[in-house]
Amino acid sequence: LAAEKQGFKHFMLKEIFEQPRAVRDTLIGRLRSEDASPSLEFAELDARVDVRALAERHKITIVACGTSWHAALAGKYLIEQLARIPVEVDLASEFRYREPIVREGDLVLAISQSGETADTKAALQEAQRLGATGLAICNVVDSSIARLADVVLYTHAGPEISVASTKAFTTQLTMLSMLAIHLGKQSGAMADARAQALLEGLREMPVAIDAVLGVQAAIKIIARRWVGARDWLYLGRGLSFPVALEGALKLKEISYVHAEGYASGEMKHGPIALIDDSVPVVVLALEGPGYHKTLANLEEVRSRGGKIIAVATAGDDAIGDVADDVILVPKVDAFLQPILASVPLQLLAYHVADLKGTDVDQPRNLAKSVTVE
Ligand code: G6P
Repeated sequence: LAAEKQGFKHFMLKEIFEQPRAVRDTLIGRLRSEDASPSLEFAELDARVDVRALAERHKITIVACGTSWHAALAGKYLIEQLARIPVEVDLASEFRYREPIVREGDLVLAISQSGETADTKAALQEAQRLGATGLAICNVVDSSIARLADVVLYTHAGPEISVASTKAFTTQLTMLSMLAIHLGKQSGAMADARAQALLEGLREMPVAIDAVLGVQAAIKIIARRWVGARDWLYLGRGLSFPVALEGALKLKEISYVHAEGYASGEMKHGPIALIDDSVPVVVLALEGPGYHKTLANLEEVRSRGGKIIAVATAGDDAIGDVADDVILVPKVDAFLQPILASVPLQLLAYHVADLKGTDVDQPRNLAKSVTVE
């Protein structure tokens, strides 16, 4: 077992550090980047789905559970903004029992690392029964969901042993980014130059993740400072909202500390009542649309004594004035930020849990894949 961990204390840490490789493997096979201008390859999808008709008359429904559901939420932001196709996201366990509206010609996308989650499988089947074309994003090859789907996109992250999902999530986000760009080009919503710029950004992503992994020591110091906190709040807006939800889930799953992810703009509708100087507030404050609104939220937290851990963009000189701790990530296109910004939150959760001495890879009461309802 120790050999399988390749020198890392836990599988989770090993898998966090595998992300540059995992994301590269997700890109390979879809992203043709031999020549100067990279392009995408989704032939099986193109054979099954008329994207223009989809954009004009139909919708995409994404179903998933847990961490994969957070990827689904990011997928909605990406596909709607880049491809202008309506996207509905549902928890697989809710979808099945609410008489969902799915029509012939709609697309259903099931996202599942294991490809074995019972609810996600049943939701995909139900949508297919109603006439939707089934698309799946899976990590495990030849899994049940992969076999059920009409078209499967594999993330190729490699086996994920740790119950808390890390590389499966960032590779799902990578696949969703490519899918959104592809749909954007096919639907006519996206200019070639814009698509090119995003694809170049994706090509550089493994190097950018490597840079984030390089600040592990600083994140461990932050973890040590806050290891005693009983409640954590994670805030983000836009594409950073699902990142905040996932950051909170990671901490909750492995450290057994209460953590809640919230959309920054919703803070004043509830969570602000919790804030005092014992509550660390992790804020995604990346450059891009919404940055200034986020700074205003930070002031609200600060004026109530809350302690701020900000994830910000390298080169941001203003953030240090409002945040107690700052984790800087390299500047990338705003649409690609979720992939990168997830990584420091994984490390933060990992180090809090490790300092607490929990069973990081096998947290109590949780299973790697839930094959019963
Ligand atoms: C379990 C795991 C989570 C995972 C979820 C969905 O709850 O502990 O890490 O996100 O199932 O799993 P899936 O394999 O469908 O992505």
